[in-house]
Amino acid sequence: MYQTLSTQLDNHILIITINRPDKMNALNQLMMAELGLVVDEIYSNKDIKGAIFTGAGEKAFVAGADISEFLSLSPKQGEELAKSGHVVFHRIENSPKPIIAAVNGFALGGGCELAMACHFRIASDNAKFGQPEVNLGLIPGYGGTQRLTQLVGKGKALELMMTADMLTAHEAQSWGLVNHVVTQAELLPKALSILQKIQTKAPLAIARVVKCVNTALDKDQDGFETEIKEFAASFATKDLQEGAEAFIQKRKANFTGE
Ligand code: COA
Repeated sequence: MYQTLSTQLDNHILIITINRPDKMNALNQLMMAELGLVVDEIYSNKDIKGAIFTGAGEKAFVAGADISEFLSLSPKQGEELAKSGHVVFHRIENSPKPIIAAVNGFALGGGCELAMACHFRIASDNAKFGQPEVNLGLIPGYGGTQRLTQLVGKGKALELMMTADMLTAHEAQSWGLVNHVVTQAELLPKALSILQKIQTKAPLAIARVVKCVNTALDKDQDGFETEIKEFAASFATKDLQEGAEAFIQKRKANFTGE
């Protein structure tokens, strides 16, 4: 179905493997279009309750946007390229279903930006993170200047983007970019086990958490007001009835997402 991605549905979790290993999974325009399609699938397919992005092979998650496509671009085409990435990555960030990056190697440039658009990141111990665009006379264009600053703070974000240095997985963890570092063999099992835990919670509440947390970073919205509204709306759900009843009856809740 896809040329640059392979997908597998495992116990309601869609594992999306970025699949151009001979090019370090570099993100070309076809891949961006296919990422848009797979995100549509995550949103619309009721069988999918969460998703994982990872890279094919043992070396790279995504080693950046495909540099070979940059040679002939005009500023107008550059703007269109950035906008197409912004739309897709914004939808990943705002997905009502959890999306995790399982970073299995180089996450550079657009690869680091893809990982940062996910709700959170797990890395294998060989992973490397960086925004090396200044090496090419360029800057991040898929939200990296904004999301890196949000995740690690201004000083660290500026240093990483100005030096084009790479962070090891453990450095990325100490910077707050990555939540867990595991071996490559443990990477997908760890991501799956976290998503399986999230699957046992109330889906509408999970979606509200995503919305409120993202609102905290949106200058045009009042996150506290959003939280009040989302908290209040929870009282209209069957899931809240079920969760509260299950607690009182000392049993496991069985959420339906209604
Ligand atoms: N765009 C296009 N092709 C890329 C790529 C990218 N971002 N990153 C890697 N590749 C290709 C290489 O050109 C090479 O292709 P070839 O075999 O046809 O020559 C292949 O992937 C393997 O990469 P190679 O550089 O030989 O591997 P390496 O192990 O020596 O180095 C990296 C790995 C990731 C350090 C190095 O490939 C690199 O620096 N990539 C670019 C990173 C970058 O600047 N990303 C931001 C882009 S905005």
